[in-house]
Amino acid sequence: MKLVATGTAFLASLSLALAAPAPVELAERSSVGVSPAVVNTWAPLAQYATAAYCGGDVWSWTCGGPCNSVARPTVLAQGGDAKATPYFYVANNGSHIIVSISGTNTRSILSLADDLEFTFTTPSSSYFPNAAGVSVHHGFYNTFTRVAGTVGPVVQNAVNNGATQVIVTGHSLGSAVGHLTATYLQRLLGSSATVYARLFASPRVGNQAWADYVDATLGSRAQHMINYNDLIPTLPPRSFGFRQSSNEVWISNAAGTSYVACPGQENTSCQDSMGLTADIAKFIEYLDFGAHSGPYAGVKWLWLEKNKGEG
Ligand SMILES: *[C@@H]1O[C@H](CO)[C@@H](O)[C@H](O)[C@H]1NC(C)=O
Ligand SMILES: *[C@@H]1O[C@H](CO)[C@@H](O)[C@H](O)[C@H]1NC(C)=O
Repeated sequence: MKLVATGTAFLASLSLALAAPAPVELAERSSVGVSPAVVNTWAPLAQYATAAYCGGDVWSWTCGGPCNSVARPTVLAQGGDAKATPYFYVANNGSHIIVSISGTNTRSILSLADDLEFTFTTPSSSYFPNAAGVSVHHGFYNTFTRVAGTVGPVVQNAVNNGATQVIVTGHSLGSAVGHLTATYLQRLLGSSATVYARLFASPRVGNQAWADYVDATLGSRAQHMINYNDLIPTLPPRSFGFRQSSNEVWISNAAGTSYVACPGQENTSCQDSMGLTADIAKFIEYLDFGAHSGPYAGVKWLWLEKNKGEG
């Protein structure tokens, strides 16, 4: 009942071009195309997400392409070290508080695969109240607690000063931490603000109870975009008990021109239909040509590509 309602709201929120669906190569029979106008709303978020990789340069909004592509917001906080904690920032663009979290760098996410440390932890009820049975990836959670320590009070203060709309974006590891951050912020702020999540290339974050908790907290306001055959979102594997929360938006062709709305969790019409397995060798090889870095709504993480050898 709840999931059906969520899926319907999600489809409605995408204002689907049912009459003229975009061409779709895979999962054609049951997939629903996303209109170019809606895809375009993701582009500024992709730029904000990219800007997070620039660390302290966001203070002066001088991070090159991503900063030049969007109106300059007022930066309220910036943190992280691109090592243990990814760079992140909080900004106000006049109507929204934007929380953007980077993914450290492409190589760092490999530690997730290298370690095979798909260990769960039970999150503190101070972040996630009434979360019976919820377990999340211990590494993502530890990273989240460091980010939340800064982001929580800054966003709370902005809301105390009148902000009512919060949007969380991020890429890769930053997307996993973004799922945790958006869910935490909505629980923290309650009815005083509405939190949205527009996340790119998210790994799985937690167990079934976690996916349900995200859905119950954010519903169709949480959406995550997956680029075609990107392997990162297939990690950690479902066989370990991990599960994606609802509302994948899948880029269903290699050219990056076709977008599919995927309500429900692990929608089999979407990336799951490719039957990808997280083979580590393939994973490393594949990172060298990087479907992981986009393009998302036409935005490719060139900065990320350039720096992928570092760290
Ligand atoms: C999966 O997504 C398709 C649209 O692409 C939709 O028609 C279908 O209802 C979704 N499945 C579930 C279980 O929500
Ligand atoms: C702020 O960013 C959000 C998300 O991209 C956008 O919907 C909104 O229109 C922006 N507000 C202004 C005043 O530009």
